[in-house]
Amino acid sequence: MIKKILIKINLVRKIIRSYFTSHNLSVTLFGKLYFREENRTWRNTYWMGMPLWKLPLDLWIYQEMIYELKPDLIVETGTSRGGSALFMANMFDLIGKGRIVTVDIEELPNRPKHDRITYLTGSSIDDEIISKMKSLIKPGETVMVVLDSLHRKHHVDKELELYGKMVTIGSYMILEDTYLNGYPVRSDFGPGPMESVREYLKKHPEFMVDKTREKFFVTWNPNGYLKRVK
Ligand SMILES: C[S@@+](CC[C@H](N)C(=O)[O-])C[C@H]1O[C@@H](n2cnc3c(N)ncnc32)[C@H](O)[C@@H]1O
Repeated sequence: MIKKILIKINLVRKIIRSYFTSHNLSVTLFGKLYFREENRTWRNTYWMGMPLWKLPLDLWIYQEMIYELKPDLIVETGTSRGGSALFMANMFDLIGKGRIVTVDIEELPNRPKHDRITYLTGSSIDDEIISKMKSLIKPGETVMVVLDSLHRKHHVDKELELYGKMVTIGSYMILEDTYLNGYPVRSDFGPGPMESVREYLKKHPEFMVDKTREKFFVTWNPNGYLKRVK
């Protein structure tokens, strides 16, 4: 009898231990904590004094990608206060090349001024903005795209279609905030970037998810590092 109870206790201990050491659970719990404690974490993150809403682990991945790919141009949607554009511009300073064109529907004051950054105002899916973006791409340039504007599915669907075409082979489109709608945060959000990218990838075999960019386990962009392979 006692032996049977001990075997059962041991089994329960093993289940509990495997549950808590599974990296999926740790990643989910950390992701939720980081998101929930917003005033301490993501709303309180700065690059060179400028606020930016990105997970520092993702910014490190950005740095690695910029060094590796050395893009001529990064096209960003969702400028906000310009912190992410400044981060990328400073990475370009370090490698001695590169420009950023970034668009936001709102023109916020006191954005950083930097020779490498061009700010556009308007909706990222507006025809005029798309034409302007395209006119800034010179023939033969390596282009990378970062989508970080409105995170509703109807909008992201359009951005993926429009901006996917600008990405050069071997380069990337980073779709930000695929963690929304329960992956693992904001389960109440409704269809967003994750739902969009799933549909997009079925129709666009020229892109694949590069899971190696999720090497730090925790990312705000699960399935969001999209490599153009053909
Ligand atoms: C998540 S914030 C961008 C954060 C910024 N990239 C950063 O890392 O700090 C989203 C931005 O998208 C902008 N936005 C919303 N709808 C948009 C649209 N249709 N076109 C362009 N920008 C839009 C908002 O004004 C907001 O500044």
